[in-house]
Amino acid sequence: MATTKTKTTSTTSLLLLFSFIIVFLSIPSFSSSSSSTDSFVFGGCAQQKYTPSSAYESNLNSLLTSLVNSATYSSYNNFTIMGSSPQDVVYGLYQCCGDLSMPDCATCVARAVTQVGGLCYQACGGALQLQGCYVKYDNATFLGVEDKTVVFKKCGPSVGYEPDAMGRRDAVLQGLMTASGPYRVGGAGDVQGLAQCVGDLSAGECQDCLVQAIGRLKSDCGTADYGDMFLGKCYVRYSTGKAPNSYKDHSGK
Ligand SMILES: *[C@@H]1O[C@H](CO)[C@@H](O)[C@H](O)[C@H]1NC(C)=O
Ligand SMILES: *[C@@H]1O[C@H](CO)[C@@H](O)[C@H](O)[C@H]1NC(C)=O
Repeated sequence: MATTKTKTTSTTSLLLLFSFIIVFLSIPSFSSSSSSTDSFVFGGCAQQKYTPSSAYESNLNSLLTSLVNSATYSSYNNFTIMGSSPQDVVYGLYQCCGDLSMPDCATCVARAVTQVGGLCYQACGGALQLQGCYVKYDNATFLGVEDKTVVFKKCGPSVGYEPDAMGRRDAVLQGLMTASGPYRVGGAGDVQGLAQCVGDLSAGECQDCLVQAIGRLKSDCGTADYGDMFLGKCYVRYSTGKAPNSYKDHSGK
């Protein structure tokens, strides 16, 4: 049974994803980083460890190298590295935010791979979300599998209920829901919204995931000034005019 190691604030909540331990280290979206694309959002590791210098470790290193190389020309890709025995197989994918240029995607994935290696030292599986990209690997396949588990959520403070702002927020979220494609952006006045699915979902699975994420975001964050809802294979985020400036630039462009 996995245990959680969390550092929470009243506006942050962390949830356990199957055998992964989700850790939350900081709120870098508020830091004055020059490149918020590379800011840490959340990460989690499988509890099981692999044997150092094993075939699994060698396959995992190949996989991570493949992810980094692929991110120079594609915003999403998946890899399966086969071993000589079934228990050495490792599966992995990455997904860059839809508005990142290829050089920025490559930089982001390289950073995510480095960070997940440190965070999940010798763990069989790991996942890490930066503002601009997501990477995940495991020894059990998760490729092409829809996953609507809440992995990470964060709600901003509710600074007085403003019907107009909340009406615009709801309209933006509705717009994200009725739009199509795996990457969706919307805005109304000072409200901005962003939604994305991991590239291995079908159009129908992506829609299903986003409907779920939007519903959870509205019910869990209520009238918060900003909110993030990351499910296993999709996320939805919004910010209003009252969110901190650095927060509004979700993708870090
Ligand atoms: C993943 O690796 C762990 C530790 O070696 C092992 O217990 C587990 O059965 C493996 N899972 C799969 C699907 O191979
Ligand atoms: C994984 O990648 C292969 C090769 O790029 C592709 O054909 C396949 O559809 C991908 N699978 C998923 C689940 O995304």
